[in-house]
Amino acid sequence: MNALHRPVRMHIASVGVSKFCFLFSIAFCGLLLLLIPTLQPPARQVDLPQPRPQIRPTQTGPSHHTSAPAVPVHAGETDSAAGLNGSSAGQGGSMDTELTRNDERGRDSEHILERGALPGRNGGGLSGSRSNEPLELKDIFIAVKTTRKYHKSRLELLIQTWVSQAKEQTYMFTDGEDRELQMRTGANIINTNCSAAHTRQALCCKMSVEYDKFIESQRKWFCHMDDDNYVILPSLLRLLSSYHHSQDVYLGRPSLDHPIEAAERVKSDGSVSVKFWFATGGAGFCISRGLALKMSPWASLGNFISTAEKIRLPDDCTIGYIIEALLEVTLTQTQLFHSHLENLQKLPTDSVLEQVTLSYGGFENRRNVVSVVGGFSLAEDPTRFKTVHCLLYPDTDWCPKLKPRHRN
Ligand SMILES: *[C@@H]1O[C@H](CO)[C@@H](O)[C@H](O)[C@H]1NC(C)=O
Ligand SMILES: *[C@@H]1O[C@H](CO)[C@@H](O)[C@H](O)[C@H]1NC(C)=O
Repeated sequence: MNALHRPVRMHIASVGVSKFCFLFSIAFCGLLLLLIPTLQPPARQVDLPQPRPQIRPTQTGPSHHTSAPAVPVHAGETDSAAGLNGSSAGQGGSMDTELTRNDERGRDSEHILERGALPGRNGGGLSGSRSNEPLELKDIFIAVKTTRKYHKSRLELLIQTWVSQAKEQTYMFTDGEDRELQMRTGANIINTNCSAAHTRQALCCKMSVEYDKFIESQRKWFCHMDDDNYVILPSLLRLLSSYHHSQDVYLGRPSLDHPIEAAERVKSDGSVSVKFWFATGGAGFCISRGLALKMSPWASLGNFISTAEKIRLPDDCTIGYIIEALLEVTLTQTQLFHSHLENLQKLPTDSVLEQVTLSYGGFENRRNVVSVVGGFSLAEDPTRFKTVHCLLYPDTDWCPKLKPRHRN
């Protein structure tokens, strides 16, 4: 019995083993297939700058009112002499690595360009959950710079209009306590303890607090606004969605048609000058978290104030200096941001709601407002912000309801 059964059992056993091997290898292959997306190193690609994000805003943005294309504002010469003296005192050591890193980055983005148009803006390798996560309003930190004397005349209008749609992530940076406004509106009002003077020092002091609060917030985008800006939140979300917050992105409108020139006092002794573009603060600008983190040595914890003091320029210029001159990241120009320095009446009525920021007034022209038609007259709504708001959010309780006879 035993002698007979043994070979049969062995045969069955070996069949069992090979069946097991077969099943195991199938399971293993399946597991491998599942793991392939996670085994690829996606982080490196995510951190690469987008090949040419500069072209995007005018391609997607409805800025047909102007022929100015959103092009890189200067060619990124990696070996530019400006501020890149590796042997200069102070930050000498880190500067060498800065240069090397920029060189590498340049090569990497060329590489991406060579590979040509990949499916989807982030390319095939980024089909993981991270890149497909849609950007939400809560991902954007919005800083509004103001001063005590404008709480009533300017801030309340913003709180009543666009800020009401982005209350959690919008912070007003001011220079005085206003418990009453804070309690009544529930707005985030931050007393920076900076001086109320409209001086370079006071403005830079506020920007420095804005920067630190943004870093602390963990949000993906930093957008700085002035207290005379209306932010069209759906447009802002649309614009930022075409970039990735881990890339180096600096978006805004230059106020000049040429780069500004300043004596280089951070990386050298001031005997050389440096040219750079900056986004005008009055129109608002946005910075990706990835780029903001790189600005830290010159922007965090009061360093912003000393950087601004060294180059003796205002807050928005200093931001441009840190990004363009020190970090060699190019400003991406967009015509979707607007300040009171422009002729706002020139914006075509049908494109107003597609813009990202609006403004009003100006030093000599109270009547410089966007032309929109809605429920409020110019006397009732001199800034046109309420009219814009009711066109965007017609269900708001204080918006005039369309009277039935208007339809006849
Ligand atoms: C670089 O730094 C060295 C030493 O500080 C200085 O002699 C030289 O002039 C600098 N060159 C430039 C281009 O700034
Ligand atoms: C401003 O000063 C007050 C009182 O000293 C303090 O509580 C607050 O944190 C300060 N604000 C900032 C932004 O440092």
